[in-house]
Amino acid sequence: MRILVTGGAGYIGSHTCLELLESGYEVVVVDNLCNSNMESLRRVQDLTGKTVRFYEGDVRDEELLRKIFAENQIDCCIHFAGLKAVGESVAQPWRYYDNNLNATIVLTKVMQEVGMQNLIFSSSATVYTEGNPMPLRETARTGGCTNPYGWTKYMTEQILMDLCRAEKAWSVCLLRYFNPIGAHKSGMIGEDPQGIPNNLMPYVTQVAVGRREQLSVFGNDYDTHDGTGVRDYIHVVDLAKGHVAAVKYVMNHTGCEAFNLGTGTGYSVLDLVNTFQQVNNISVPYRITDRRPGDLAVCYAAPDKSAELLGWKAEKNLADMCRDAWNWQSKNPKGYQ
Ligand code: NAD
Ligand code: UFG
Repeated sequence: MRILVTGGAGYIGSHTCLELLESGYEVVVVDNLCNSNMESLRRVQDLTGKTVRFYEGDVRDEELLRKIFAENQIDCCIHFAGLKAVGESVAQPWRYYDNNLNATIVLTKVMQEVGMQNLIFSSSATVYTEGNPMPLRETARTGGCTNPYGWTKYMTEQILMDLCRAEKAWSVCLLRYFNPIGAHKSGMIGEDPQGIPNNLMPYVTQVAVGRREQLSVFGNDYDTHDGTGVRDYIHVVDLAKGHVAAVKYVMNHTGCEAFNLGTGTGYSVLDLVNTFQQVNNISVPYRITDRRPGDLAVCYAAPDKSAELLGWKAEKNLADMCRDAWNWQSKNPKGYQ
């Protein structure tokens, strides 16, 4: 079976390509490298001893997609390609709506033309409306997003649900990721954000490696066990394995189904920082600052539906995530550069 992976050179995409290859799938990647480096896929090939067929280009390029489908017998597509920085999406909304929505529209249009209608989409816990009770179930309210990035995920889910209602041959999984962190155990591939990291773990690893002075902990007056924000951190390799499980699911079903990919356990910012310091025996200087606008106090998943229908469960714990994130960063202080 051959899988088309859009955005496969990126953080989650590269880990998923590796797991797909290890599970015996053939992998074709299309990526315009706007937020990634070909080096990630070179390393995936080195680690697996297998080849990835790579097309450099934009998913919004209809002719390129037709060429890819003509040259490869594709059975299923995993669609990671998208812009993902929340703050940047507020400053550049048009760019986010254009990239994230049009990529999905062009991709599904060409898939419909060639009659290949199995799709897995990278959604996010950000689609859930603030105020839902925790843990978040897939049936919780969605919408009311606080930024354009979140809206692109919400709108893409809507487009794909409508498509499945209209065209009964389609099979779509909407995978709602919680907070992916960590890296492959080899330390050869990992998260390599451009510029100042927006997310907690890459900031922590860059402080630990000496690229940044100290971490700012955004608020310690939330209603949580230590006052800092609580999230459902999930090891990126567990997340990647969730995609392999979803491939099996879409190939055997039709319609559109949403799944949470999380562990079901929430940890605070200080839980993560303390665990990181302990397991890696390294210090991460931090100071408490104001809350970051738009942040929730607590967010974690109910992962039962994924366990039941996908047969998938996260296996790695917070210590594994912290160890593997540091293994990657310490071996690659400047990322893929
Ligand atoms: P990433 O930026 O590392 O990977 C995205 C990849 O898509 C990059 O390689 C980029 O070059 C490529 N890309 C972007 N637009 C493209 C286009 N128009 N055509 C071709 N390639 C394009 O990000 P990631 O963390 O691996 O995230 C992958 C997906 O998962 C994204 O859709 C993201 O929104 C979603 N997601 C990520 C998180 C997270 O915390 N990392 C959480 C929820 C959802
Ligand atoms: N945090 C800090 N300091 C930092 C960065 C983050 O204290 O430098 C805190 C945040 O306040 C939050 C926690 O660490 O309490 C996690 O923050 P992240 O930015 O790592 O993650 P978020 O939960 O805010 O957002 C992530 C993704 C979004 C996605 C969302 C929901 O980045 O794309 O999960 O899925 F929409």
